[in-house]
Amino acid sequence: MFWNTIATGALLAQSASAQNMLRFGCSQLTIERADPLVNPGMGPSPHTHQIIGGNSFNLSMEPGVFDPVTRSTCTTCTYSEDFSNYWTAALYFKSPENGTYQRVPQYANVGIQQDGGMTVYYMPYSAKNNKMTAFKPGFRMIAGDPTTKKNNRISICHRCLGNGEGFAPCDNKDFGELPTKYCPKGIRATVIFPSCWDGKNLDSPDHKSHVAYSNSGGLGSPNCPSSHPVAIPQVMYEIMWDTGRYKNDAWYGNGKQPFVYSFGDGVGYGQHGDYLFGWKDDSLQKAMDALPSGKCANANCSVLKIQSAKDAMACKKKQQVVEDVGKDGAWIKELPGGVQVTTK
Ligand SMILES: *[C@@H]1O[C@H](CO)[C@@H](O)[C@H](O)[C@H]1NC(C)=O
Ligand SMILES: *[C@@H]1O[C@H](CO)[C@@H](O)[C@H](O)[C@H]1NC(C)=O
Ligand SMILES: *[C@@H]1O[C@H](CO)[C@@H](O)[C@H](O)[C@H]1NC(C)=O
Repeated sequence: MFWNTIATGALLAQSASAQNMLRFGCSQLTIERADPLVNPGMGPSPHTHQIIGGNSFNLSMEPGVFDPVTRSTCTTCTYSEDFSNYWTAALYFKSPENGTYQRVPQYANVGIQQDGGMTVYYMPYSAKNNKMTAFKPGFRMIAGDPTTKKNNRISICHRCLGNGEGFAPCDNKDFGELPTKYCPKGIRATVIFPSCWDGKNLDSPDHKSHVAYSNSGGLGSPNCPSSHPVAIPQVMYEIMWDTGRYKNDAWYGNGKQPFVYSFGDGVGYGQHGDYLFGWKDDSLQKAMDALPSGKCANANCSVLKIQSAKDAMACKKKQQVVEDVGKDGAWIKELPGGVQVTTK
């Protein structure tokens, strides 16, 4: 379901005024075992990521030194001044019949023209008085935790499309785990980032402590804790997995489902997202400031430069870590990196 400004209004009913948000598509840039945030300089990194955004994405992107804006020559995102990189794990189908893997294809979200990749949101949830502070160059953060065995549905969730879904992202009809029922219209994975910042650090050793959720997690009520007083745009990713093609009653139910994340998580609680800021100059701040005016919303923000879907899709990057991560529809014998699957 297209989650749009109606939902924003409902969720912001307690704050002074409902606001617009940015919602736009970014097509796939590359899929490879690289992770400049958690494993800088390492090629290959332990597990496969699907990466979108500026084409300067590299194995190492040192904060304050590496500038995605000057090093990129294109971006896969709708807004052509956005050279940020956004990445998450890839998802694989593991055949319950013969144990081989197929990378689950992605499809475009409602109303968006894109080639794989994700839908990216910048939302105003923590902002009192309509005021948000955009990220500074070098800023990065992670949401979710690949090692967790705990359900964290309010910020990391999966929606079973075509089979009883809810409305607002990560509401109580969504699942922290990969749904154990067949999802005919796909699975939408959502990653909601924190919306409050300590105002000082561009990063932290765990890539999390410099930011905080504005309440217990998830989409925030407009209140930042005193430790992290600065309201930042709340970033959210949506990834659409085409699971409808994996139809077989025997594969689902009783706690079973046939999908596994590239880091070996066959439950799904460990889904996570990485964010590395790279908007040109103060373009993101300008957009955030323009949200209340009504002239800046979704993929049509008048203070930003917009490129065609065709140009966004043409921006690609060759793998730096060259290996088969599962070409379109092909079967592979093991997860890239020989990652083992756990289902508990
Ligand atoms: C990526 O890293 C390599 C190796 O350090 C370097 O040669 C190359 O210039 C970098 N690419 C960009 C776009 O910064
Ligand atoms: C493995 O099983 C899947 C279905 O689960 C099937 O589509 C695929 O062709 C099988 N591969 C082999 C090598 O038998
Ligand atoms: C984009 O916004 C402008 C006004 O800011 C409007 O004239 C135009 O129709 C909008 N385009 C779309 C596709 O919504």
